[in-house]
Amino acid sequence: MIVGSPKEIFKGEARVAMTPESAKQIQKLGYTCIIETDAGLSSNFSDKDYRDVGVKIVKNSVQLWNDADIILKVRGPEKSEVSKIQTNQHIISFIWPGQNKSLLDSLSKKKVTVQAMDMIPRISRAQKMDALSSMANIAGYRAIIEAGNQFGRFFTGQITAAGKVPPAKILVIGAGVAGLAAIGTAQSMGAIVRAFDVRPEVAEQIESMGAEFLMLDFASDGSGEGGYAKPASKEFIEKEMELFRKQAPEIDIVVTTALIPGMPAPKLWPKEMVDLMKPGSVIVDLAAEQGGNCELTVPNKMIETKNKVKIIGYTDLPSRMATQSSTLYSTNIRHMIDDLTPEKNGVPFTNMDDDVIRGATVVHKGEITYPPPKPKVAAIAKHVEKAIQKTPEEIEKEKIKAEKASGRTQIILLIIGAILTWFIGLYAPSEFMQHFIVFILSCFVGYQVIWNVSHSLHTPLMAVTNAISSIIIIGALLQMKTDNDIVSILALVSVFIATINIVGGFMVTKRMLAMFQRS
Ligand code: NAI
Repeated sequence: MIVGSPKEIFKGEARVAMTPESAKQIQKLGYTCIIETDAGLSSNFSDKDYRDVGVKIVKNSVQLWNDADIILKVRGPEKSEVSKIQTNQHIISFIWPGQNKSLLDSLSKKKVTVQAMDMIPRISRAQKMDALSSMANIAGYRAIIEAGNQFGRFFTGQITAAGKVPPAKILVIGAGVAGLAAIGTAQSMGAIVRAFDVRPEVAEQIESMGAEFLMLDFASDGSGEGGYAKPASKEFIEKEMELFRKQAPEIDIVVTTALIPGMPAPKLWPKEMVDLMKPGSVIVDLAAEQGGNCELTVPNKMIETKNKVKIIGYTDLPSRMATQSSTLYSTNIRHMIDDLTPEKNGVPFTNMDDDVIRGATVVHKGEITYPPPKPKVAAIAKHVEKAIQKTPEEIEKEKIKAEKASGRTQIILLIIGAILTWFIGLYAPSEFMQHFIVFILSCFVGYQVIWNVSHSLHTPLMAVTNAISSIIIIGALLQMKTDNDIVSILALVSVFIATINIVGGFMVTKRMLAMFQRS
């Protein structure tokens, strides 16, 4: 089948849904790729780049919509594009089905199948296709760059011969994907960063990035299902605004990203808060498209208030970094196509039993399938929610109970072990018993050492196990020269297994270290 990508026609949209690299991968799945001429130009991909990887360039959009079986787009089809849709075509793009009921209806009339990239459930397995996160990540980064562009000072504090420069203070509201990206960028540029979110579990993430989590003295858990927040109560929002009111006179830059999916953005930064800010301060409202978190935000514009506060309401931040966002978005799409083509035979199969595909499919063979049922992983979230609802006393009681039970099991195991050792000792030679007891003790110590290490320390642990494996190899080499064939064979096997451990350990450690390398 043919996969094609037309040039985006939405004014100012610079992204493209297929890059030369993603086309290469899509072709490996058995598809033929075509693209409208100059579709990638604004993202710095020329027709030649596409031709070089075997993509056919099509002269105009009419021909593209005619020839392609699967259409890849960034923005949902505009009216003029809907008229070009062929029956039974397959469309993959951002759709926003909740806000675009009429588009859904017209797509359904065309008997097409549509996967909305904004409907991919936020579960671990679907991360590679999570276009919302890819775009929000770029938006968070760009928000800080845009703020820096308008802000009249350094981000980092400096002491120079010409005077002392205080560091900029940045407040990030909402620490989802965009918020965390903004925190990371602002932090790396030397600003003092504070952040707030209704989901208390993000506090650790915020702090691990070096920012300060603003605590709110209010017993509420804002965590909802699927990694998103649930709506905060009126009382909570009031408390939250009280907190912001204290921050407003001090803060130089505010980046607001607060959003509950499918709902208008909560108004967290009203006019009175803007009035409290210093002249020269900047607000970047990422939620501008959903009405904005700041009361004065004008979508797609930058305005300056009477007290000289600039409010940026751009809704095209990913498009302002088109090469990067096209690269990430096209990778998300090609992973989607990969999942849609389990046979790798160039024919898509919309498996409605697959949580991720089901979630993204908003029209299936002309039938509107939006909204999807809740993903099955929600059951896990409910379970976690139940755990969260327990009081600290209950949790403490359960902990003591579990510790007592584990202590009892250990005593029983020790008694059984002692009886077995005594029994073996009755019959085995004393030389064997010496080695045997050392063997049992080392198993016990090794088990305790490894079992009690927290997961985050498993990389250093691997280095330790490498050292232990080296000791095993030395011991085995010493045993090899014996006349007893069985001992030699056992020694050989030990060397082999310990070598696997050492080589594997180094490989995994190298991979993990590579994650922290800048190149
Ligand atoms: P997300 O859902 O990952 O994060 C939103 C965060 O806001 C969540 O952590 C949630 O707990 C928090 N939140 C909700 N209500 C809150 C409240 N009352 N107070 C404090 N925190 C609250 O969303 P993501 O992907 O990070 O996107 C954030 C925003 O950025 C969205 O509005 C999205 O549409 C927008 N966006 C804007 C772009 C642009 O060009 N302007 C581009 C991409 C995304």
